[in-house]
Amino acid sequence: MKHNALVVANWKLNPIGFDEAKNLLTELKKKLKKVNSTTIVVTPPFLFISDFSKSLKGGEIKLGAQDVFYEEIGPFTGEISAGQLVGFGVSHVIVGHSERRALGETDEQVNKKIQAIIKRRMTPIVCIGEKNRDEQGTFFNDIEAQIKGLAKGLLAKDIVKVVIAYEPIWAIGTGKTATVEDVKEMQLFIVSTLTKLYDRKTAEKVTLLYGGSVKASIAKELYEQGGMSGFLVGGASLNANEFSGIVNATIS
Ligand code: PGA
Repeated sequence: MKHNALVVANWKLNPIGFDEAKNLLTELKKKLKKVNSTTIVVTPPFLFISDFSKSLKGGEIKLGAQDVFYEEIGPFTGEISAGQLVGFGVSHVIVGHSERRALGETDEQVNKKIQAIIKRRMTPIVCIGEKNRDEQGTFFNDIEAQIKGLAKGLLAKDIVKVVIAYEPIWAIGTGKTATVEDVKEMQLFIVSTLTKLYDRKTAEKVTLLYGGSVKASIAKELYEQGGMSGFLVGGASLNANEFSGIVNATIS
């Protein structure tokens, strides 16, 4: 099934200053005036969301967040809820990024966050990926466990609202992008795992992204042959030229 393309900028903990963040957004807005069917999402640090929500209103770029807490309100120091994000026009939320899982986030928490996001009618972008690859392919077991974990308790009508971003940890921030073959193989594996949990039609409705050292120079080949519907971009999303090059690679 052909999905509309989706390209997500994960700014992580960047940039350090608000002025730099605003400048980067202004540059991106200039470069990405007309993007046809590709959906573009920028996920800045939480602090910038309030300002960005005004400057992105009615434009081509959608506003996302890098995480959320699964409770709506109450004594949870330091947390931000799905209801609060929705109030600022956030449409997409990344969950289960490997950098958060490394800080202790569990499959169970990821699953609760997905449910909280769907309840607020936003789109969860759920990251999965193996630490390392081995010749025997046992890393596929980890991927399967992560898919089962994220899908736990989700009905077919909910799983089709989820975006799954395959981000092999060895490829994140290392400059070692996965090959087209690796990405294609993983796309087929994710669809077949979802087919076992639901059915083929449902599985094919789930939007899949690739992330991990995506650069403009290889984006077109990866997009056209990797079988995924777009990208989750870290480092390259902090450079307006690179990021717009990646977006353009998804426009035929
Ligand atoms: P990268 O990060 O593009 O810098 O590898 C991707 C991500 O972590 O989402």
